[in-house]
Amino acid sequence: MDFMSAREAADKWGISQRRVAVLCSENRISNAVMLGNMWVIPVTAKKPVDARSIRYTKNDERKIKPFIKWAGGKSQLLNDIRAKYPEKIEKYCEPFVGGGAILLDVLANNQPKEVLINDINAELVNTYSQIKNSVDDLIEMLSEMQESFWKKNEIDRKVMYLSNRERFNDLKVNGDGQINLEKAALFIFLNKTCFNGLYRVNRKGLFNVPMGAYKNPPICDAENLRLISGLLKNVQIKCGDYSECADFIDENTFVYIDPPYRPITETASFTSYSENEFGDKQQVELCKFVDRISTKGAKIVVSNSDPKNSDENDSFFDDLYSNYTIMRVSAKRMINSKSTGRGNINELLICNY
Ligand SMILES: C[S@@+](CC[C@H](N)C(=O)[O-])C[C@H]1O[C@@H](n2cnc3c(N)ncnc32)[C@H](O)[C@@H]1O
Repeated sequence: MDFMSAREAADKWGISQRRVAVLCSENRISNAVMLGNMWVIPVTAKKPVDARSIRYTKNDERKIKPFIKWAGGKSQLLNDIRAKYPEKIEKYCEPFVGGGAILLDVLANNQPKEVLINDINAELVNTYSQIKNSVDDLIEMLSEMQESFWKKNEIDRKVMYLSNRERFNDLKVNGDGQINLEKAALFIFLNKTCFNGLYRVNRKGLFNVPMGAYKNPPICDAENLRLISGLLKNVQIKCGDYSECADFIDENTFVYIDPPYRPITETASFTSYSENEFGDKQQVELCKFVDRISTKGAKIVVSNSDPKNSDENDSFFDDLYSNYTIMRVSAKRMINSKSTGRGNINELLICNY
C-alpha cells in the first residue's frame, strides 16, 4: 500500500493538516497509521464526509452523555426525575445546570421550544457556549491534547497537566472576558484528567485539583460533543445567580432545580463548584424563589441530599418545603473525601405538583 503524509492529504483534500490529524485520531480514515508522531495515510483514501453536519434527531439511537464529570451529577437519578416530567415540556429551565444530565435527556426526548440554562460557574458556562458555537474547533484542540497526553509517560503527563492547569488559571484570572475557546478545551482536559473529575478552586479562584491516575482518559469524545452541540442549538446559555432566571419562567415552564448539596456529613462539603458558598441561608432564599415561580404556575422539581442520612432528626428540608410533595429516592454518593461518606444514601425530590 502506498502512503502519503498528512500534509499531502491536507493539500489534496483542501483542508488543514491539523484537521487531517483529527480525522485520523477519530479513526475516520481507514488504515491511517501513526509513524513516530506523524500520521501517514493510504494514497487511495477518500476525504471523509464532513461530520460537522451530524445533528441529533429524535430517533437517533446514539447515547448522549454529559461532557464532564460533575459533583452532584444526576445521571443515576435520571429515571426517578424523568418520572416527574410533565406530560408536555414546552419551555424548560435549569438554573443550576452543572453537567446537564437532566438537560440532555429533556432536550433529546422532548424538543422543548424554548430553553434557558444557567450556572454561576463562568468556566462551565463558557464551555457550554463553545460546544454550542464552535464545536469543531473545540474538538480539534481536545483531540490534539488527547494525542499528546496519551503518548507521554507518567512524569511527562504530570508536567503537561500542571502546565495546562497553570494556563487555564491564567486565562481564568487574567483573560479578557469569559468567552474563550482554549479555556473551554482546558476545562474539559482538566475535568477528564484530574482527580475524580473534581472542580475545586482556592481562595484566589485558582483551580487546584491534582492529576488523577487514569490509563488513557477519554479527553475528546468527538461524536458526543457534536451531538450535544446540535441539541444546544436553540438553548439560551446564561452565567449568573439562579434568581436571574425568574423572568424566563412562566406557567408553561418545567423547572428542574439542583442546587449545591447541603452537606450530609461535616466533612462532605461539596459546595465549592465555584467561588460562591451555598449554605443554609442560601437554601432558605432558594425556597422563596421556588415559592415565587410556583405562584407563576411553573412545574418544579427540586433535588437535594437528605439530611436524615446522617441525622434522622434533621428535618431541614421537610420543614422548609412543607407545602410541597417530598419523595425520598436511593442513590450512590460517590464524591466524598472520606470513604465513610460513600455508599447508598437518600436524595430528596421535592415537587409542586
Ligand atoms: C449539584 S450541581 C448541579 C448538577 C447537575 N444537575 C448535573 O447533573 O451535573 C449544582 C450547580 O449549581 C451551581 N451553582 C452554585 N451556586 C449557584 C447560584 N447561586 N446560582 C446558579 N448556579 C449555582 C454550581 O456551579 C453547580 O454547577
